[in-house]
Amino acid sequence: MKRLAILTSGGDCSGMNACIRSAVRTALRMNIEMIGFRKGYLGLMKGDFITLDTKAVSGILHHGGTFLQSARSPEFRTPEGQKVALDRLHEAGAEGLVVLGGDGSLSGALALHRLGFPVVGIPASIDNDIPFTDMALGVDTALNNIIYAVDCIKDTASSHARAFVIEVMGRNSGYLASIAAIATGAEYALVPEREFDLADICQQLRGRYEEGRDNAIIILAEGAGQAHQIADSIKDAIGFETRVTVLGHYQRGGAPTVFDRLLASRFGKKAVELLDDGTCGVMTGLSCNNIVATPLEEVIKGEKRPQDDLLRLAEVLGI
Ligand code: ADP
Ligand code: F6P
Repeated sequence: MKRLAILTSGGDCSGMNACIRSAVRTALRMNIEMIGFRKGYLGLMKGDFITLDTKAVSGILHHGGTFLQSARSPEFRTPEGQKVALDRLHEAGAEGLVVLGGDGSLSGALALHRLGFPVVGIPASIDNDIPFTDMALGVDTALNNIIYAVDCIKDTASSHARAFVIEVMGRNSGYLASIAAIATGAEYALVPEREFDLADICQQLRGRYEEGRDNAIIILAEGAGQAHQIADSIKDAIGFETRVTVLGHYQRGGAPTVFDRLLASRFGKKAVELLDDGTCGVMTGLSCNNIVATPLEEVIKGEKRPQDDLLRLAEVLGI
């Protein structure tokens, strides 16, 4: 194997740079050249790539985001777009491709694999909604960002006797909301995976208020409802003020945590080794602290289930 390519696609996350660096350094040690396509599948279809040598990936490990940039490309979803991408890969002399991204990007990787091109996917999305890996890249950093923000908001919530609805990202997944609620001692986590009764929650908040507990933190997964609507319902039903904070894209950036730096480095190395070994059409994953490979076919048709012990923990802690 002489030359491999790498790209970052979909929503960016912290740890992508550390992962690119690891893949490049691993490849160079194996005398494999590395190129990086800019802006995900969009750049791939344009043949927009740079050579990645040691210098290109130095000083990037601790930065959030992705220096190769990311994008969403509807055109790549079409057979025509994928054919163009394939042509560009061949023109660039790439013999394999490493794709970092979420479930959409990994579906794209599977499409290229089905067309016969050697691809390895790396799960990278703060949503942690990708099966066959305990954690995706960027999740730990996003959670640390969230708990920092929630801790800050708790201070002002208690000073002003207010209830806060704090909306976190996650698309259709409640993972970030659930874990953040456990880690911050929030009163409620409202997630798409579990039905909730707003009237019941309001009644409980009212009861707490009458017992003298005059502030509350409700962490809302973005896929579970409208933050302002929920806050308005609560305001009408309880005796104290409500406020809404939408954490938004703040969650996705910042220096990666040690966990994400290590995971990124392990995923990057593994992806290159797999391709060099002739194993393709797979995704790297973390399972019981081991780095494993699962066929993309399985990943894409699989479903990430919330961990039972975490759900029980949330229940025991009254969330
Ligand atoms: P993420 O990878 O973070 O889940 P998206 O769902 O937006 O983000 O996907 C990123 C890109 O991956 C899309 O813009 C598109 O180019 C490609 N993609 C998504 N779904 C598919 C699919 N089913 N088939 C082929 N390519 C896809
Ligand atoms: O998939 C990652 C994610 O951050 C989701 O949690 C969120 O819904 C979405 O991307 C936001 O996308 P954009 O950055 O395009 O606004």
